[in-house]
Amino acid sequence: MKKLLTVLMVGAMWSVAAVAQTPAWNEIKGELKTALDSTPDVKRGEAAFEQCTGCHRADASGRISGAYPRLSGQHASVLMKQIVDIRSGRRSNVKMEPFIGDHVLDAYQIADVALYLSKLPIAVENGKGPGNLLVKGKELYVKDCVDCHGAKGEGSGPKFYPMVASQHYKYLLREVHFIRDGDRRNSNPDMVKVIKSYTTGELEAVADYMASLAVPKQ
Ligand code: HEC
Ligand code: HEC
Repeated sequence: MKKLLTVLMVGAMWSVAAVAQTPAWNEIKGELKTALDSTPDVKRGEAAFEQCTGCHRADASGRISGAYPRLSGQHASVLMKQIVDIRSGRRSNVKMEPFIGDHVLDAYQIADVALYLSKLPIAVENGKGPGNLLVKGKELYVKDCVDCHGAKGEGSGPKFYPMVASQHYKYLLREVHFIRDGDRRNSNPDMVKVIKSYTTGELEAVADYMASLAVPKQ
């Protein structure tokens, strides 16, 4: 009996430890903590961004094709988290990985570049969706997404919720597929829960709607 109890207790402790090892999607530690706690500098951020412009463009507007997201005007906290998640492999990004290793950016430069990008104006029209799914898209968005991403698609810096308004349609569409299918492993689990049941048509509709939202006032 005593032996059985010990086995049960060790088993329970083991599973608690296993759960504890799966970090929360928004756990603030390591370089993300260093970046968030630092005092970033816009000028240093501008210099650090030079090595990113080949893909994201000099004005950080990304590509209408959706191959590269717009980074300008995004919340600094979101940008920092995404860069850290990409370099730690929590979010896959084969194209970008060679350009953002810690030989290129240290944690302080991650904060610098994020501040610089968050202050850049959103100057260029984004890639729009087909536009014929907006009614359905709005219905889904208001039901399932608005609590976090906001009525105008503005997101929330303190909560790490990305601004989705005016992002390129094809990028948004790719990401919602990644989120639904579990390929974006840093995602908020409450979001995954709602997107899990979406059909491909519903993903198209909601992406169409998000891309149609005007740039929120900054
Ligand atoms: C070789 C091309 C390339 C280079 C260079 C590059 N990126 Fe990216 N980046 C991408 C791609 C592709 C994605 C989108 C990946 C996806 O679809 O999930 C991306 C995504 C991002 C995101 C996530 C945006 C979001 O809305 O979640 C951030 C932040 C980012 N890049 C920052 C940078 C910074 C900072 C640099 C320079 C230090 C950089 N990138 C250099 C290709 C590149
Ligand atoms: C519980 C809050 C929450 C809800 C609800 C939610 N999201 Fe999100 N969403 C997030 C967070 C947090 C992230 C960033 C996750 C991360 O750190 O990678 C995100 C990221 C995204 C991204 C990627 C943006 C980018 O720049 O790469 C898209 C697209 C998105 N959400 C769409 C949706 C859609 C569509 C819905 C509704 C069907 C939805 N979300 C519901 C919290 C939420």
